[in-house]
Amino acid sequence: MSCDAAVPARLRGSANLALVGADVDVPLVTGGWRRYVNLDYAASAPCLSSVSEAVEALLPWYSSVHRGAGYKSQLATAAYEGAREAVHSFVGARHDDTVVFTRNTTDAINLVAAALPADASVFAYGAEHHANLLPWRRRRVSYLPVPDSPEHALASLELALATAGGDHLLVAVTGASNVTGEIWPYAEIAQVAHRYGARVLLDAAQLAPHRIIDMAAEDIDYLALSGHKLYAPFGAGALIGRPDWLAAGEPFLAGGGAVRYVGLDSVLWADLPDRQEAGSPNLVGAVTLGVACRTLQATDRDALVAAETELLEFATVRLAAIPGLEQYRMWSAEHPRIGVLPFNLGRLPYAQLAAVLSAEYGIGVRHGCFCAHPLMVALLGIDPDVDAGLYANLSKGDTVAMPGAVRLSMGLGTGRADIAALVEAVETVATDGPGWRYQSSADGADCWPDPDPRPRPSLPFELR
Ligand SMILES: Cc1ncc(COP(=O)(O)O)c(C=O)c1O
Repeated sequence: MSCDAAVPARLRGSANLALVGADVDVPLVTGGWRRYVNLDYAASAPCLSSVSEAVEALLPWYSSVHRGAGYKSQLATAAYEGAREAVHSFVGARHDDTVVFTRNTTDAINLVAAALPADASVFAYGAEHHANLLPWRRRRVSYLPVPDSPEHALASLELALATAGGDHLLVAVTGASNVTGEIWPYAEIAQVAHRYGARVLLDAAQLAPHRIIDMAAEDIDYLALSGHKLYAPFGAGALIGRPDWLAAGEPFLAGGGAVRYVGLDSVLWADLPDRQEAGSPNLVGAVTLGVACRTLQATDRDALVAAETELLEFATVRLAAIPGLEQYRMWSAEHPRIGVLPFNLGRLPYAQLAAVLSAEYGIGVRHGCFCAHPLMVALLGIDPDVDAGLYANLSKGDTVAMPGAVRLSMGLGTGRADIAALVEAVETVATDGPGWRYQSSADGADCWPDPDPRPRPSLPFELR
């Protein structure tokens, strides 16, 4: 962790919030090494030290979950169920909410989509991550426009629900945008939804690492999150929520562990959560997710929010001063955001800017459309005819120039020095251009240094 990290002064040095790999140096194409500046937390966050220590402690005891009388199996099962309680507590779930361990947020949302009553209608905003747009096509879905203000989001939902018929309605909304960081008015959305008898699913993939969530108080019916965005990158996520829809009908996955009894033409499904957790569970993933939840819960999260907000302001102001740099957001500059900021630099292709930052400055950011094509089309102001043409040409198999941007995103280990390093790098690129040669894919979505003399570290596994 850098010395002036986003972790506030009185929490700094807390072993609990240390991150594995925070001081790793990476090679530059221009020669030399530099501490890796990780500004890509929104894609996948590094592992908390407390989580890594938990893995070390768990592995000697590793054994089957819910499947053995052996001492280690019993202990593994207790650890797995302890993790379930930790996740339940972390999101402020109601007493009778179920916690199902999944692979990630995508898996959790697909599980809800599969469990929806057959006549259900879903309402989702066009600004959602693809994980919260596409699974609903399993049922009837209406997409609401990308709203130009939080008030517009509420008004368009109200309008849609007022004319919606049916007994089973669901509103799916993100907690915080993975593209702009803006925090959605999800508690108000839940109020509107409930007034019309609709339930609410909160995609908390981005919100959960940055804000306290209280499902009970905020009246959220379902919540999906990913461990790898929550400092526990061991392949588990979770779905938390009301049990009735999840306990009805066929489970999302059929198989061992999800049943009470099976005949060749009959099956008695198990109760929740087992019913929705067929197959051998991911013990390490679940336990580490639980440890990450407990670690975050034990910190002063308001102080973390204050520190991150200050850093985001610093980044916003400094980047805005760079000629030709454009930042994107849906709503007013004052609207609360998590530490996520998308931008482009003049006519420099976004993929090349990301490649330059990595190759010449050791800075990791994400680029592209961030799995949110409709939102990016709106943010970049792409004309609907151009958008339709893009789709038509792509579906014919033509190569088209893909729109996109660069995104910086922050987390527990981000400090002022990291943001300053990014700003200085972008300033240099803005005035001098790239200092190396690069090649790009035909659609512009990828770019890489050519040649790339950076050595690879020696690791005890194969690198392609
Ligand atoms: C807002 C949001 N929702 C859903 C997802 C999907 O998460 P996962 O890839 O962990 O399933 C992401 C991932 O970036 C996200 O940012």
